[in-house]
Amino acid sequence: MKKIYFGTNLKMYKTIRMTLEYLHYLEELTRDIGREGMELFVIPSYTSLERAVENTDRRLVRLGAQNMNWEDEGQFTGDISPVMLKELGLDLVMIGHSERRHVFRETDAEENQKVKAALRHGFTALLCIGETAKDKAYGVSAEVLRTQIKIGFSGVGREEIHRLRVAYEPVWSIGVHGIPATAEYAEKMHREIKKVLGELFGRDGLEIPVLYGGSVNLGNACQLIVQESIDGLYVGRAAWEASAFDRLIRESMEAYGNQTTE
Ligand code: 13P
Repeated sequence: MKKIYFGTNLKMYKTIRMTLEYLHYLEELTRDIGREGMELFVIPSYTSLERAVENTDRRLVRLGAQNMNWEDEGQFTGDISPVMLKELGLDLVMIGHSERRHVFRETDAEENQKVKAALRHGFTALLCIGETAKDKAYGVSAEVLRTQIKIGFSGVGREEIHRLRVAYEPVWSIGVHGIPATAEYAEKMHREIKKVLGELFGRDGLEIPVLYGGSVNLGNACQLIVQESIDGLYVGRAAWEASAFDRLIRESMEAYGNQTTE
C-alpha cells in the first residue's frame, strides 16, 4: 500500500499555548495510526516553532516552517534564514504558498532560490503551486502549473527528489471564500503535475508526493484521497481542531484502504 500524507498549515493562527495544546492532542489522538502507511505534518507559526520542537514526538508529527529566506544571513529585515530554522531542528519548509505568492508578491524565481536553499540545508522542501481563477478561466491552468514546477525545481538534482513534496492548491479553492475543486478536476491537475515531474526527473519523479489542498473538509476528503494521482491532503481550516483532523485522517485512510482492497 502506498504511503499517504496529511499536513496542515496553521497560517497566522494560534498562539504558542494554543499550538502546543493542538499538537499534544493531535499526537495523542493519532498515536495508534501506523506511520509506515501515513505521514503527518504540521506547520505552525514561527513563534511557536521552538516550543513545538521541544514538545512533539517527531516520529508521530513532523514539523515545518511556513516560509524562509534563501540566504544564510544578510540584510533582510523581518525574514528568517535556513540556518536559523536548522538550529531549531525542523523537518520541512513550505515554499511558495499562495498567500506568499499573491499577498506578498513572491515570484517563481524566488521560490526556486528557497527550494535550493532548503535542500542545501537538509530540509524537505514542500513547494506549493496553483492557478488563479483567471488562469482557469483562460484555460491555462496546466501551463501555469508547469511553469511553477519547472522554475520552482530548476537546478534540483535527481538525488534530492526524496526530499521534495508538492502541494497543489488552486488559488480559487483556498480559504473562507474558496470553492473546493472537484475530485475529477483535482485528479486531472495532479496528472499534469506528475507528467511534468516525470519530464524533469524521469520515472523517479513520479515518486514525489503530490498533495491536494484548498477547502479540504470531511465532506470531500474521501473522494479526493481515492484519486490515483493524489498522494495526500493539505488541510487548513478543517484541521485546526485536533479531533476534527484526526477524524478526517481516519475517514480518508479508511476510504483509501477500502479502495485498495476492492
Ligand atoms: P483551507 O483548507 O482553509 O482552504 O486552506 C488550505 C491551505 O491554504 C493550506 O495551505
